[in-house]
Amino acid sequence: MVMIDFMQNDGLTKLKTHWCGRISKENIGQRINISGWVSTVRDLGGIIFVEVRDRTGIIQIVSDPVKNPDVHTIFEQLKDEFVINASGIITTRPEDTANPNLLTGEVEVYPDFVQILSESKTPPFIINDEQEVNEDLRLKYRYLDIRRSKVQNNLILRHLVTTEIRNYLNSLEFLEVETPVLIKTTPEGARDYLVPSRVHATKFYALPQSPQIFKQLLMVGGIERYYQVARCFRDEDLRADRQPEFTQIDMEMSFVDQDEIISMTEGLLTRSFKCAGIEVSAPFIRMTYKEAMETYGSDRPDARFDLKLFDVSDIMAASSFTAFADQVKSGGTVRAICIPGIADYSRKDMDDIRNLAISFGAKGLAWITYNTDGTVKSPVLKYLSEEELGKIQQRSNANPGDIVFFLADKPKTVFDVMGRLRLHFGEKLELIDKSKHSLLWVIDFPMFEWDEEQQRCVAVHHPFTSPNPEDIALLETEPLKCRALAYDIVYNGNELGGGSIRIHTPELQQKVFSIMGMSDEEIENKFGFMVEAFKYGAPPHGGIALGLDRVIALLSGSPSIRDVIAFPKNSQAKCLMSEAPATVSEQQLEELSIKVIPPKTEKK
Ligand code: AMO
Ligand code: AMP
Repeated sequence: MVMIDFMQNDGLTKLKTHWCGRISKENIGQRINISGWVSTVRDLGGIIFVEVRDRTGIIQIVSDPVKNPDVHTIFEQLKDEFVINASGIITTRPEDTANPNLLTGEVEVYPDFVQILSESKTPPFIINDEQEVNEDLRLKYRYLDIRRSKVQNNLILRHLVTTEIRNYLNSLEFLEVETPVLIKTTPEGARDYLVPSRVHATKFYALPQSPQIFKQLLMVGGIERYYQVARCFRDEDLRADRQPEFTQIDMEMSFVDQDEIISMTEGLLTRSFKCAGIEVSAPFIRMTYKEAMETYGSDRPDARFDLKLFDVSDIMAASSFTAFADQVKSGGTVRAICIPGIADYSRKDMDDIRNLAISFGAKGLAWITYNTDGTVKSPVLKYLSEEELGKIQQRSNANPGDIVFFLADKPKTVFDVMGRLRLHFGEKLELIDKSKHSLLWVIDFPMFEWDEEQQRCVAVHHPFTSPNPEDIALLETEPLKCRALAYDIVYNGNELGGGSIRIHTPELQQKVFSIMGMSDEEIENKFGFMVEAFKYGAPPHGGIALGLDRVIALLSGSPSIRDVIAFPKNSQAKCLMSEAPATVSEQQLEELSIKVIPPKTEKK
């Protein structure tokens, strides 16, 4: 048997000596052997033109019944999406049929040999990028969808970015280490996917929501610099930027501080963005959580446009509008936003905006309209003195034609609603400069937030995050005021990733668990192995995880992360192609000692 060195042959095969889309004028006169899918067949009164497509592009092959009747007979059988192989000499296309926009547009092949390798049924949709195809149909036939260059280009970009990231991290002496997928539950805040154990009946593994605990234990293990292209699983309500399984670029370093992780990640992101032809320069802006919330009403601000929120609590607290003043007295706040040039909005427009605010969680919405004729109108005018009105106008910089909106409530509600109103007007009034690339860090997150439902402190990032050393004393007295050494990276208003410096002493870790209301027994039960590990020389460490799917979706301008995942689930967490999740046999259940209780109301 003759052994062929695959590498010496550029990885090409006997059936395929050239990639279709890479054949150009340079190949004229050469014999080529190509394989691919029939993209179009055009029969022009005898002469048949066929475009053959592969992952790199298309090449035109032609048959003439007079020149080569045998080949022509096969050409006559060709239909869309047949897989064929053809061999012949590359020639120049006649000038009137050439397409100079395409690398392969000036050449063609009259093959002297053609064979059909595989036939195709008529596909349920045409494989091209122009056709708008219903997403459910595309997901059902995802393998056909992947033939379209839109999806293919996304997968190629994903590959390029992942390769670039691997090269970058390898050059910084990170080690790629795999962590287990069958684990004990991790506390990232979402619901776990559970896997029943057959061997240990009644017990369950959980699929990792992230490799958090294991990457920290790798630091205790002396790996010092770790990364993984890690699959994570979260059973949560899905949105365009969330999937039940998704991929993180997960990283952890020992002997590192927040600035160093930030700068390492900036290097990684500038290189990744370059893969998509986007130049961004580091360092990126850093903004405290407090500033982000107070100015943009969001912990992932879209800073591509201005429209900043401002505080009017002091003015309103002193006013005769008791609804507002009382809010401030009871720990609430009043924030305002000035929207330019909408003073001519109708009564109905204003009702729509108020209803929008209510749908975001507000109890009401107040405003002052600064008319272009100099008059001022407002449903709360009667409550405000001349002086108060003057102060508001000064603080808002409102010009004739503008409207200032106000909301009074608990700070969380006010920021959330006003932040969403800001985004609404940003889009609606086309204030967002879509050519801008705004990358920024949000830092100084709080350690904890109060969970009304559970009536306890929960970790804002996760319970392994270190408190800011400056705020350690607050842990005892006012834990909700304690800042964490946690950071998020935000791109055009989307959270790309987040991380923190970690706790690395058993005492502090235990204290944070107990602030979260966990008993010693619970700590031992859930995280005993981790606290134990910290007793054997844990180095100071920290890290970050980037959502790879989100990065690629944003870089490729895709509206959903489904577009950058080869086989995604739909918004009901179903795989429309294989129909997972599915029922399993009685026997499988029995082996697992599981009895199925049908839900009371069938979920769709
Ligand atoms: P976090 O939970 O913030 O941090 O997740 C990091 C990033 O993962 C992406 N992401 C998702 N992408 C798609 N679908 C989802 N359902 C989904 N959930 C999260 C986001 C997010 O910013 N272990 C920590 C990281 C650390 O501290 O090092 C963690 O998982 O882009
Ligand atoms: P009232 O005089 O009580 O009818 O309220 C006057 C205006 O204040 C109405 O436009 C209400 O929608 C608005 N309003 C009521 N509560 C709030 C609130 N918490 N924040 C903002 N506006 C409010």
